[in-house]
Amino acid sequence: MKKEKLLDLLNQMTLEEKVGQLIQVAGETFLMDDVDTTTGPLKDLNLSNEMLYNVGSILNVVGSEKIRKIQDEYLSKNRLKIPLLFMADVINGYRTVFPIPIAQGCSWSQKVVHDCTRVSIKEAGAAGTNVNFSPMVDLVRDSRWGRVMESVGGEDPYLGEVFAKTMIEAYQGEDISKLGNAAACVKHFAAYGAGEGGRDYNTVDMSEKEFRQYYLPAYQSAIREGAEMIMTSFNTINGIPATVNQWLLRDVLRKELGFQGVVISDYSAIEETINHGVSKDKKEAAYKAIMAGVDIDMMSSVYANNLKELVEEGKVPEEVLNESVLRVLTLKNKLGLFENPYGNTDEEREKKILKSKENLEEARRLSAETFVLLKNEKQTLPLEKNKKIALIGPYGNNIAILGSWSMFSDKSKIQTLKEVLEEKIGSENVLYAKGSEILREKEMNQILSADGGNIIHIENEEEKEKAYLEEAIEVAKQSDVIVLAIGEHYRQSGEACSRANIEISQIQQNLLNELAKLNKTIVTILFNGRPLVLKDIAEKTDALLEVWFPGTEGANAIIDVIFGEVNPSGKLTMSFPQATGQCPIYYNHYNTGRPHINNIRFASRYQDIPTDSYYPFGYGLSYSKFEYSDLKISSKKISQKAPITISVKVKNNSNLAGKEVIQLYIQDLVASNVRPVKELKGFKKVYFEAFEEKEITFEITIDMLKFWNEKLEYKAESGEFKVFVGTNARDTKELKFELI
Ligand code: NOJ
Repeated sequence: MKKEKLLDLLNQMTLEEKVGQLIQVAGETFLMDDVDTTTGPLKDLNLSNEMLYNVGSILNVVGSEKIRKIQDEYLSKNRLKIPLLFMADVINGYRTVFPIPIAQGCSWSQKVVHDCTRVSIKEAGAAGTNVNFSPMVDLVRDSRWGRVMESVGGEDPYLGEVFAKTMIEAYQGEDISKLGNAAACVKHFAAYGAGEGGRDYNTVDMSEKEFRQYYLPAYQSAIREGAEMIMTSFNTINGIPATVNQWLLRDVLRKELGFQGVVISDYSAIEETINHGVSKDKKEAAYKAIMAGVDIDMMSSVYANNLKELVEEGKVPEEVLNESVLRVLTLKNKLGLFENPYGNTDEEREKKILKSKENLEEARRLSAETFVLLKNEKQTLPLEKNKKIALIGPYGNNIAILGSWSMFSDKSKIQTLKEVLEEKIGSENVLYAKGSEILREKEMNQILSADGGNIIHIENEEEKEKAYLEEAIEVAKQSDVIVLAIGEHYRQSGEACSRANIEISQIQQNLLNELAKLNKTIVTILFNGRPLVLKDIAEKTDALLEVWFPGTEGANAIIDVIFGEVNPSGKLTMSFPQATGQCPIYYNHYNTGRPHINNIRFASRYQDIPTDSYYPFGYGLSYSKFEYSDLKISSKKISQKAPITISVKVKNNSNLAGKEVIQLYIQDLVASNVRPVKELKGFKKVYFEAFEEKEITFEITIDMLKFWNEKLEYKAESGEFKVFVGTNARDTKELKFELI
């Protein structure tokens, strides 16, 4: 449809119809036999029956059949036949689930992130999703925050930028109306990851310089790539909730970044500005949000019940309302919904595509690339196939390995580690014992009680704990090697899952402590959604493989890696702390006036732990052995006109082919503002044959040296810089150069 036609349509709309386009409700509403707005969820929303057939979009309903039904029913009653938009949270997969986003980022591979995203949206698109609430590009520095699991870029702004671009490309392609594409919704604008103390929804207060330097780039990258939609965040930014923050949404997002797409609030975030204490009631909340440029109100009745009145009273200019409505109509038009209101849905295609063999194979391959080998003493891994293995631990025979965003997944065919291990080496060679629960009853109920009564009870808990342990020890004694599968419960990470202690539960630590007394080789497989404090685990184990929540094909991928069919190549995108009290910890910190070197008393440090992270950013081992040498720079001086290059020789000094992520970091040694001790500026994931050596080259440009100063100017300052190349943020080779 041409723009003029959309404007015609807008002109024909009544005020109610316009407001309707800016409301989002749960789609199940339309599936009720007799839609009655005087009871149930609709009553809470205070939406009239009439208004229901004006609402513009639907949240989290999927499936061709359902979507067709809802769209048909809706269009039969909608006066101007404006189709509904279907939006969903397909975060790391639809029916086939891929590794959680933080894991995808640990592949340090745009291809891996792209392919996970692409298959997810092909499946979800076939099931009717028009808009996907992904990617989450929030920079995350505090592992206490449960949502670090959703961040592909982790603690690094550069990785955030790179992967934001990759994901937008993968979701939207060049034309979002084409088969297999959907509009992406970048979230959560902005700086949601910087909540104080890592507590979800908490206050964010930071300098604008800091915001622009570290937090803004990933959102900006997604916008540059053409992201169609943006979701506001729950937090405040410098005293004003993001959802009603005019500076953020009008000045930065619209004017400066040139974003022309749709802005949606997060779930009831407009209404929550009352709790924040900046809106006295829903009407004021509606006023503030629309004036800040929030187009759609997700799941609250604030717009539905107040916008019309606000326009009629002349408080909100109709022009402002029209702009928002036009943005929503434009998105529907770009998606081709006026011509085909069912979008990509097609029942036949849906059946064919969902969890097809190819998708499962992709998931297995991609999943293995996200694992991070944290420890491998005396080349414990890969394992030989002729060993008797004791598979122990609450994740040994457990299908809850998809992470917290897997509500649409098909769980029917997920295999457990036990099943695939038995297939691989024969059930006669696998001894299994559960060993322990993930959490004790009390700990589990601390989590579940917030769900409203859905708590668990473990009969004779202490006795059971003892029996599990005894069985595990018995089984372990008969084995050649112990594979211990432990981790966080999937309900311990994700939204509203902040933790004040990020250790493995005591009950699982006890299990490992007891097993360690047997002096057998222990390989620990770790399932979790955030960096954890791993010292006590790592010290008692010979090999440690971080598999995050690896998705539908996770068990197969683990088997591929532990038996050496796949050589691990993942690297951490977040620093792992020595203790919870060290959070937030990130590699690109400032030096301070008293950096901690050699245990000096009056230094910026904690008395009781080392100052470094336990595992640094960029860290991850391989079965191959990579050696770096011959760091060379093309010139010691760089100028506006002449970029320079830096090269390094990397050799795979082993008889196993493998991949290495070669990382480039820069430090501005003296500048007008303090600068981080290191900043990632480039990386290459390179495949090496056995004993192969390659020269790897990076270009250094002036753009890499720019930063935001206190006057909010973005520029590079002349002077000396250090450049580092290495296998992680800690182990690098370095040289100096000068910007003239
Ligand atoms: C709240 C979450 O913060 C957001 O990420 C999600 O997309 C919405 N709910 C919709 O489910």
